[in-house]
Amino acid sequence: MQLLTYLEERKKLIDEELDQYLPQHGHAPERLREAMRHSVFAGGKRLRPILTMAASEAMGKGKELVLPAACALEFIHTYSLIHDDLPAMDDDDLRRGKPTCHKVYGEATAILAGDALLTLAFEVISNNRMIAHISGDTIAEVVRIVASGAGAAGMVGGQIADLEAEGQPVDAETMLYIHSRKTGALFQAALGAGALLAGADESALSAFKRYGDQFGLAFQITDDILDVEGDTELIGKPAGSDEKNAKATYPSIYGLEQSYRMAEESVAQAVDALRVFPERAEPLRQIARYLLTRSF
Ligand code: IPE
Ligand code: IPE
Ligand code: MG
Ligand code: MG
Ligand code: MG
Repeated sequence: MQLLTYLEERKKLIDEELDQYLPQHGHAPERLREAMRHSVFAGGKRLRPILTMAASEAMGKGKELVLPAACALEFIHTYSLIHDDLPAMDDDDLRRGKPTCHKVYGEATAILAGDALLTLAFEVISNNRMIAHISGDTIAEVVRIVASGAGAAGMVGGQIADLEAEGQPVDAETMLYIHSRKTGALFQAALGAGALLAGADESALSAFKRYGDQFGLAFQITDDILDVEGDTELIGKPAGSDEKNAKATYPSIYGLEQSYRMAEESVAQAVDALRVFPERAEPLRQIARYLLTRSF
């Protein structure tokens, strides 16, 4: 399997699908519509939806079945980026290689574009062609795990812990809490949604949960490392943002070298969580390993 080709093909498929779900001309106030599209199509690796599809494929089911849920995860993620960049939070001007939503449309519109993307996600999960193939109970469970991963005990909870930790001495436990909530929780939800829709049982779900947890941690550690060592041009967001905000990050606590080793350890654990799965889980294994060499 050629990972880069795989990722590119998936991204293309997802981008076409995202376009269909976003409000078309005349279906929402134009400025809001434009702001939503600006952030969704500014760029983005589409990793969360790719993982939703990969989880379904690891279960031996197709990727098409889970495309709407995959898109929902990307809408939630994009909303989280718009709000994360606001002056009240990380105050960043560049995202996905473009000026941030609030820089182009103003803060009020950016807040509302985020709100609209978050709510659109649940519209897409619960009102689409998946319904024809999947039981109402399963859809309800997917809504529940996505809401819970995105909410107060998940991503939003992690985001507030991240803000509260600015400029504070932070212990290892708090550091882990922040990263596994602000980033890990949504990755777990992305995998859980794909797995559930593909009919995963308890033991498969728990393997995906472990994979998602360790994947999310490795992802955020490497995000922290790229904030220090990365190139603004390549990462498409301002390098050095964490230092500017005195964020609690892995490199700030452990140093770059140890942070990298911790990311390696998490990737190894993520891959290990998949040992119960056959060859079909190979993309998930490769995507995890790729985190250690990514430059954006
Ligand atoms: C950035 O996520 C926010 C974090 C959780 C670190 P990504 O690096 O996946 O951002 P995009 O979607 O590719 O822009
Ligand atoms: C953000 O973490 C996680 C989110 C939920 C958006 P960061 O603040 O490190 O993400 P970037 O570096 O701005 O993408
Ligand atoms: Mg942040
Ligand atoms: Mg940020
Ligand atoms: Mg970051």
